[in-house]
Amino acid sequence: MRGVIFRGLEELVVEAIGMQAWDELLEAHAPEGRVYVSPTSYPDAELFALAQGVADKLNKPLTDVLAIFGQSLFGFLAEKHKGISSKFASFEELVLSIDSVIHMEVKKLYDEPNLPSISAIVKDDKTIVLEYCSNRKLCFCAEGLLYGAAQFYSRKLTIEHPQCMHSGAEHCVLILHLD
Ligand code: HEM
Ligand code: ZN
Repeated sequence: MRGVIFRGLEELVVEAIGMQAWDELLEAHAPEGRVYVSPTSYPDAELFALAQGVADKLNKPLTDVLAIFGQSLFGFLAEKHKGISSKFASFEELVLSIDSVIHMEVKKLYDEPNLPSISAIVKDDKTIVLEYCSNRKLCFCAEGLLYGAAQFYSRKLTIEHPQCMHSGAEHCVLILHLD
């Protein structure tokens, strides 16, 4: 995973529980002297270990931490890449463009990024059905990113997750219900 994602986690942890907590997490779960540089790749296992460390510190399930992380990560990525995030007039437009525009732009900015495959289909004016597939199985993070995007457009969103790679499915199904 790119350094930019680790920096997003760092920002959240420092804001929520402080710099000392982040230093302790690094000490426990990252090689000595680790500094995350946005375009550089670091092992996925390191991100998972840090996120698990946050979960342990907060006494929350890892899935909750990944969801909260995803939600704050959206604002972080949107701010870092204003040129990409300002392209969309609505939540719906953004969600329908995750693979075809957003992550496509990411591929131009970062050398061989590890991206999920996400397809979205509008079912009716309040429902979008999204399919998520990635060997990193970060569907809870994807949910959080979607909640973050809804917040960005001041929309009320609820997500159903009736099919999940964590239960052996080949892809996750997320049903987005908008108000
Ligand atoms: C990675 C989903 C918007 C840039 C990821 C990952 C997920 C995801 C789940 C983790 C990798 C994986 O699952 O395999 C989404 C969703 C979005 C969204 C659901 C919108 C609701 C954005 C935006 C940007 C962005 C707005 C920046 C302009 C990236 C980058 C990575 C990433 C840089 C890491 C690539 C790497 O580590 O090599 N995205 N994303 N995403 N996304 Fe997105
Ligand atoms: Zn899932």
